[in-house]
Amino acid sequence: MPRDRHVFRALRLQRDPSLPPTLELDPGACPVMRADGAMKERLERRLEPPPPCGEACPVRAFFAAARAAGADVELDVGAGYGRFGRGRAAAHPELRILGIEQEGARVARSDVLARKAGIRNLAYLVGEARYALEFCVPPDSVAAVHVLFPDPWPKDRHARNRFFRAPNVELVHRLLRSGGLLHAATDDETYFGRMLAVMEADPRFGRVPPPARTDAEKTDFELKFEGRGRPVFAASWRKL
Ligand SMILES: C[S@@+](CC[C@H](N)C(=O)[O-])C[C@H]1O[C@@H](n2cnc3c(N)ncnc32)[C@H](O)[C@@H]1O
Repeated sequence: MPRDRHVFRALRLQRDPSLPPTLELDPGACPVMRADGAMKERLERRLEPPPPCGEACPVRAFFAAARAAGADVELDVGAGYGRFGRGRAAAHPELRILGIEQEGARVARSDVLARKAGIRNLAYLVGEARYALEFCVPPDSVAAVHVLFPDPWPKDRHARNRFFRAPNVELVHRLLRSGGLLHAATDDETYFGRMLAVMEADPRFGRVPPPARTDAEKTDFELKFEGRGRPVFAASWRKL
């Protein structure tokens, strides 16, 4: 199914009146998240900034609501099927968690499960994480960024797709508040080595011990890898 169909399905499910209301982010209302074709190229090549979202921007509303409630915001980048976000949101109702995921069908499934569980502090943005981090998330606004089991893109010719690269670390640095945390986990030892090297090259971050995640905060991919007996490598860094 083409990605857009997934997104429309996600939005339909989000509007299902039989489910309890939760935070809503409508990627259709966001000029960055609905960027395609020519717009994507303009963003990638920094030819021009995206059109202003205005007061209707759902991400802006999400951050304003969190600020008004005095709640810390955490991002789940590449949220996948969302098990981690749901587990964390349920265990920490004082937090606001924003999952960013490009696959609308994964978001739709997690959104329904979250609603059925009565979770109200978890929202999703369907789209390209780099655009969300660069153009949508306000600077100095985030307490923690979780990048759990990101695609390792092992081939050199795909290296620019890896999340752990200096330009993306720059984006994370911009949106984390001082003392904010970046958490990473992977089953891929080579990629883990690359993560450590990229982060060590940035003196604005200091490595700290990764927190123990509860069983409920294990991710869908983590459970899959664990089932295959694969070790998990985890690291965390603090914005100094
Ligand atoms: C290996 S899965 C891990 C998912 C989840 N964190 C977990 O551990 O179960 C990686 C996820 O990141 C998403 N993803 C990859 N690149 C992305 C991007 N540039 N923007 C948004 N999501 C992305 C994929 O669609 C996929 O769901």
